[in-house]
Amino acid sequence: MRGKICLVTGATNGLGRATATALAARGAEVVLLGRNEGRCRAVSAEIATETGAFPPTILVCDLASLADIARAADEYTASGRRLDVLVNNAGVVNRQRRETVDGLEETFAVNHLGYFALALRLLPVLRANAPTRIVNVASHAHRFSPLDFDDLQHERHYGAMRVYGRSKLANLYFTFELARRLEGSGVTVNAVHPGAVATGLGMNNEGLLIKVASVLSRLFFRAPGDAAATSIHAATAPELIDQTGLYLANSAPCEPHAHARDRAAAARLWEISERLAGVALDDDGIVRLERRSQP
Ligand SMILES: NC(=O)c1ccc[n+]([C@@H]2O[C@H](COP(=O)([O-])OP(=O)(O)OC[C@H]3O[C@@H](n4cnc5c(N)ncnc54)[C@H](OP(=O)(O)O)[C@@H]3O)[C@@H](O)[C@H]2O)c1
Repeated sequence: MRGKICLVTGATNGLGRATATALAARGAEVVLLGRNEGRCRAVSAEIATETGAFPPTILVCDLASLADIARAADEYTASGRRLDVLVNNAGVVNRQRRETVDGLEETFAVNHLGYFALALRLLPVLRANAPTRIVNVASHAHRFSPLDFDDLQHERHYGAMRVYGRSKLANLYFTFELARRLEGSGVTVNAVHPGAVATGLGMNNEGLLIKVASVLSRLFFRAPGDAAATSIHAATAPELIDQTGLYLANSAPCEPHAHARDRAAAARLWEISERLAGVALDDDGIVRLERRSQP
């Protein structure tokens, strides 16, 4: 990976941190995207110590804010640096419904629109440096439930795992739709399921359930380093250089749940996401900025 630049979101913890460390160990220049500058700096120093590589650079960005995503993507683009791999990894699970500064339900905003807006806004750099890759960290949790287009912001019904599962289904719709739209561009788009991992996911919540889940997960789940293997494979494997639109688990293609193959739902979500994020893609893969619409 020497000479390549890999940007990893949600790199301050869990899978993102493990992915960033492995990419740095393989010689890539790594960019850590995180919302807390202090945490990013600490992780950057730890990765440098662990790998002997140069400390990863930092791109501060709160993925719960569409304006901040636009600012961070503009900042990266203006730096003139190349970009070879974007790993969309940051994610949240919230026991109770929360809204972002944009008035969007936070799981939908961070886990789905965060991937969507960042990838589209960085697409000109990725296209300019092709062959390049986008890796979207999804989950088998996409199987939990189809999307409810009448309540995408979960204002009427909120259940943490159902909402989380839907955000992961949105990751697959986004992956398949973007891969189709970028066919032949040299930018590949694949999704991964890392497996159950003992990380910080969900630990921002209060309550006994979370504490029990935490103990169980640490006993039975894989360590982040092992579970990041499929993200690292998607980001680096030479045999995937022209492979796009895949869902990978255990570093091999796997078939998602049937509802993830609903092309009409994927197209519908795409169109809504363009309007909410204020960024769109022409048929020829050129990014167009739009006026953001309200949820
Ligand atoms: N853990 C599992 O068992 C599992 C299974 C399947 C899929 N996944 C997927 O793997 C990915 C990583 O999850 P994880 O388990 O590693 O979780 P984690 O340990 O909780 O890490 C989540 C990361 O996302 C970041 N993040 C959250 N909200 C953000 C925001 N608004 N802006 C910027 N960064 C934000 C966190 O940053 P802070 O440090 O600032 O909080 C943290 O670095 C997620 O997409 C998740 O859906 C996980």
